[in-house]
Amino acid sequence: MTLPEAATTITRLNVRVQTLPEGIARARHWLAEARRVLVLTGAGCSAESGVPTFRGAGGLWRQFRPETLATPEAFARDPKLVWEWYDWRRQRIAQAQPNPGHYALVELEQRLGDGFALFTQNVDGLHERAGSQRVWRLHGDIWLLRCTGCGRQERNLAAPLPVLPPRCDRCGALFRPGVVWFGEPLPADVLDAAFAAARRAEVCLVLGTSSVVYPAARIPQSALESGARVVEINLEPTELSDRVHLSLRGRTGELLPQIVQGAG
Ligand code: OAD
Repeated sequence: MTLPEAATTITRLNVRVQTLPEGIARARHWLAEARRVLVLTGAGCSAESGVPTFRGAGGLWRQFRPETLATPEAFARDPKLVWEWYDWRRQRIAQAQPNPGHYALVELEQRLGDGFALFTQNVDGLHERAGSQRVWRLHGDIWLLRCTGCGRQERNLAAPLPVLPPRCDRCGALFRPGVVWFGEPLPADVLDAAFAAARRAEVCLVLGTSSVVYPAARIPQSALESGARVVEINLEPTELSDRVHLSLRGRTGELLPQIVQGAG
């Protein structure tokens, strides 16, 4: 993937255009002042670890869009195809290591303690592997297998899985991935915690997400409405970019450590 030089890109602060270094300095200042910070992460946060995103360059698997694979209907129609996609993702994730963006969030949490809350759309577990503790999973866990018959859940780290689609060894029904699919509700306790954190947050960081999948995309909007300063980091402009206080163009693994370090 080719990128513009970070130092020559522009960022937006309300209506004023700033240089990227100025934007970084401003975000660092806001973080240094904040006691309650809400973070929302998406697939872009894990991209530098080698985990493919869902949308954008390199995001597609065999030309399938996520909306056509990550659904109960797709699984009912062709569970093997859906499992092949998840098995491919599991293999990529198994080889991945957390990147500097993940570690910057660990550092921020250590400084803020209970004032920190991380809500992730990622199912890869890389935040936890980096050491983040106050992590809420909006979309589930790719390492969980859930039986469609007896409901049993099993943590299974095999990658690749020996047989696709996998079956429950207790009841023989199909296992499905332990993730949330399009058309399914998100865990209510996690969503409640997210909107409660959004009401309290002084700063909200929106990192590596296209901000097109709801209800997760509503979380920063709620933080904005409650008066938080919202900072987005993304390689590209998103649906959210024009509405946030500061939208920084670049990689989370490069920009986030600069914003977090020296902010405390
Ligand atoms: P997407 O794949 O939609 O978006 C990833 C975003 O990250 C894009 O806006 C990229 O520009 C940006 N990006 C890529 N690399 C980056 C980097 N190194 N630094 C910063 N930004 C980078 O992923 P999500 O927004 O997470 O849901 O997708 C949301 C949900 O849609 C996923 O949780 C998944 C998917 O279908 C389900 O499976 C239910």
